[in-house]
Amino acid sequence: MRVGFIGWRGMVGSVLMQRMLEENDFAGIEPVFFSTSQVGRPGPEIGGYNGVLEDASDIDVLSKLDAIVSCQGGDYTKEIHPKLRQKGWQGYWIDAASSLRMEKNAVIILDPTNRSVIDAGLKSGIKDYIGGNCTVSLMLMAIGGLFNAGLVEWVSTMTYQASSGAGAQNMRELIEQMGTLHQSVGTLLDDPASAILDIDRKVTATLNSPDFPTEQFGFPLAGSLLPYIDREVEDGQSREEWKGFAETNKILGTTTPIPIDGLCVRIGAMRCHSQALTIKLKKDLPLSEISQIIAKANQWVDVVPNTKPETLSRLTPTAVSGTLRVPVGRLRKMKMGPEYLAAFTVGDQLLWGAAEPLRRMVRILME
Ligand code: HSE
Repeated sequence: MRVGFIGWRGMVGSVLMQRMLEENDFAGIEPVFFSTSQVGRPGPEIGGYNGVLEDASDIDVLSKLDAIVSCQGGDYTKEIHPKLRQKGWQGYWIDAASSLRMEKNAVIILDPTNRSVIDAGLKSGIKDYIGGNCTVSLMLMAIGGLFNAGLVEWVSTMTYQASSGAGAQNMRELIEQMGTLHQSVGTLLDDPASAILDIDRKVTATLNSPDFPTEQFGFPLAGSLLPYIDREVEDGQSREEWKGFAETNKILGTTTPIPIDGLCVRIGAMRCHSQALTIKLKKDLPLSEISQIIAKANQWVDVVPNTKPETLSRLTPTAVSGTLRVPVGRLRKMKMGPEYLAAFTVGDQLLWGAAEPLRRMVRILME
């Protein structure tokens, strides 16, 4: 199988390459590497490739591939995908961007949760397989067991999303903002006798200063938070919030849609998204049974006992960053009633939230 890679040098693409090398995924495919800016230069020595970088906008070259994996972004997809299909290209298009997700002829891929939907898609001749929104994928990796057991009446998802979801430049800016804040009070911090309210006043003045670095986020994130992600859609929802309902139900292939809604918030974490969930169950089940259903859903989900030491050591962005583990904790029944379950979950936005479902789809095609 000849597989073309577009956008493999970007942040998600680099994580994808790293994961594919770790899992020896290149052994079963013949990779071809593309570029939008360095066409003709030597390609990377990845997976035995010894060719040059091919032109990512050359429809003739692209249409000779069996599959294309794109981490290049939505604009590339919107430009190239229709041209390829119009030309009659029958290969598989595997994409991290959101452009095609909700198309009738596309499956959103998260195989630990929806392998049956993927298999049905392959059988029916569907050729477009698109990675889901990161918060949606991470939520389903965490509590997919409850959905697949038919136990969920609705879910409210309150998110704490990392800077990586906004892009590589945003991650840099977050750290720059942190450094700028520290610099503004460095001497006061060194003096144990300085007054905390003086420090706070300086920090607040720095956050509000026109010189504070906010080119990427538009506003201070360090020492603050941003309770709006992506653009406005309708009914007061942000697009990120809109995806919760639309994509979850598409991934699960529900016939009666399950209500999913909540507020999406950007916080100063690097690459792990966290979510506080309120889950209305269809029936009152003992917590031990609920924990088992969650834990058995896949090999990466990790039920964290609801104690303070376990929670703080295992259920944070720091503990999860760079790993495939998806811990779920703070599991308890809420005061609203025995069918109301609280949960908190954390997951690496670049792994299960972006690269991992793509590499696993390439594997599925090789089966
Ligand atoms: N939209 C997500 C975010 C990124 O802004 O965090 C990945 O889906």
